[in-house]
Amino acid sequence: MLSKTIESALNTQIRIEAESSQAYLAMAVWAEVKGLEGIACFMYDQSDEEREHMLKLVKFVNERGGHAHISELNAPNVTFNSFKDMFKKLLAHEIFVSKSINELVHISLQEKDYATHNFLQWYVAEQIEEEATARTILDKVNMIGDDKGGLYLFDRDIQQLTVNSAAQGPNTGV
Ligand code: FEO
Repeated sequence: MLSKTIESALNTQIRIEAESSQAYLAMAVWAEVKGLEGIACFMYDQSDEEREHMLKLVKFVNERGGHAHISELNAPNVTFNSFKDMFKKLLAHEIFVSKSINELVHISLQEKDYATHNFLQWYVAEQIEEEATARTILDKVNMIGDDKGGLYLFDRDIQQLTVNSAAQGPNTGV
């Protein structure tokens, strides 16, 4: 059974994951209307992953005798100054999510809720991966700078990244 403190903290995380999904969906749409299919495809995938993160939390809360709260969401950013700006925001957002997961882990220990602590380890590992991916992408985007040809090739490469991760099978997370 979840304590009220843990239930409320997990419900906050459910909202954050749902907002992440919307934020990345907005990025996908922006990239798509700019004609960069590869980046759009990658961001649609990221958006789907965030929804999976949210659902995994929803199910955990309900299974442990809590009530997952599906709330209204803050509207995401829908336009960006550049792709560099967009990917900077992606990395900043993942760092924010990591902090939030760390705080949750801290609360689970304070509450001596070891089942929740154990459950959260998947998110800790996932955040390391997601931050690393966002950093790698941002490094590449920084290298490209304002070079249109570079952006064209990058768009193709990132599409390959999406195809490869899809070929490795379904999202292992859920
Ligand atoms: Fe679910 Fe990328 O944080």
